[in-house]
Amino acid sequence: MYDYDLLVVGSANADLVIGVERRPAPGETVLGSDLSVHPGGKGANQSLAAARLGARSALLARVGDDAHGRLLLDSQRAAGVDTTGVLVGGAPTGIALITVDPSGDNSIVVSPGANARLTPDDIRAAGALFAAARVVSAQLEIPLETVTEVARTLPAGVRFVLNPSPPAPLPDDVLAACDPLVVNEHEAAVVLGGTAGDSPEDWARALLALGPRSVVITLGAAGALVADGRTGTVARVPSPRVEAVDTTGAGDAFTAALAWRLGLGEELAEAAAFAARVGAAAVTKAGAQESYPTADEVSAR
Ligand code: RIB
Repeated sequence: MYDYDLLVVGSANADLVIGVERRPAPGETVLGSDLSVHPGGKGANQSLAAARLGARSALLARVGDDAHGRLLLDSQRAAGVDTTGVLVGGAPTGIALITVDPSGDNSIVVSPGANARLTPDDIRAAGALFAAARVVSAQLEIPLETVTEVARTLPAGVRFVLNPSPPAPLPDDVLAACDPLVVNEHEAAVVLGGTAGDSPEDWARALLALGPRSVVITLGAAGALVADGRTGTVARVPSPRVEAVDTTGAGDAFTAALAWRLGLGEELAEAAAFAARVGAAAVTKAGAQESYPTADEVSAR
């Protein structure tokens, strides 16, 4: 009935990555490794991660008419992502400047470029893509008004998954559409407008009070916490123990896997447990999209 298990509406960036012994303090210069360039962006990462797992995924995004845009389109198509919704031109492709330290932690600065030109009109013009999708997923590297248009115009019965990253306060109608809202601790604090208790359980309850139908809080190596507003269930989901090489894009792989499995009908805790294994696999290799596992690789863990 649906052409796509997952439609991702979001960013596509060229990731310019440098390995460093430690990230510089303000005013400081450090030397790093050779520069490497990879396809990235939270939207493109999600659509590719889902496709690698076996989902039929599509990407609605905007890239520049330039070499970075072609790099992104090529990587999406090679993974089997439907790119009919990728618009080209209007500004240079988005860029992410990424430093990765020996512990695998990263710092990222994004120049949105063409991502900032993905408009509410572009969403309204893509009605056929939305009508063909079982689940729609978005992040915040595109304008908030564009994400708001997605939430407002979703066809009935289509599930909406939002990872508000980088975080911003969210309008009520966006919050009400989320099923789930997927946040880490930092994103939870921004959406809540401050802290709300000491534990992830407290944050989840406070977030649910803002309107989402469900909430998933990612806890890094500690896994995730899921909270379903319909059933009142709050549960912890563990993550496998792994040696982290590079955490870049692991959250995107988690959210893509979660969205895909929810669309297949899994319960929130079951889908999050699978997503935690996908995210754990993604941190064991360098880069974002290059690190994403196939379904066989996830089951082998
Ligand atoms: O979440 C990781 C992504 O964030 C990177 O691929 C980079 O492009 C930034 O958008």
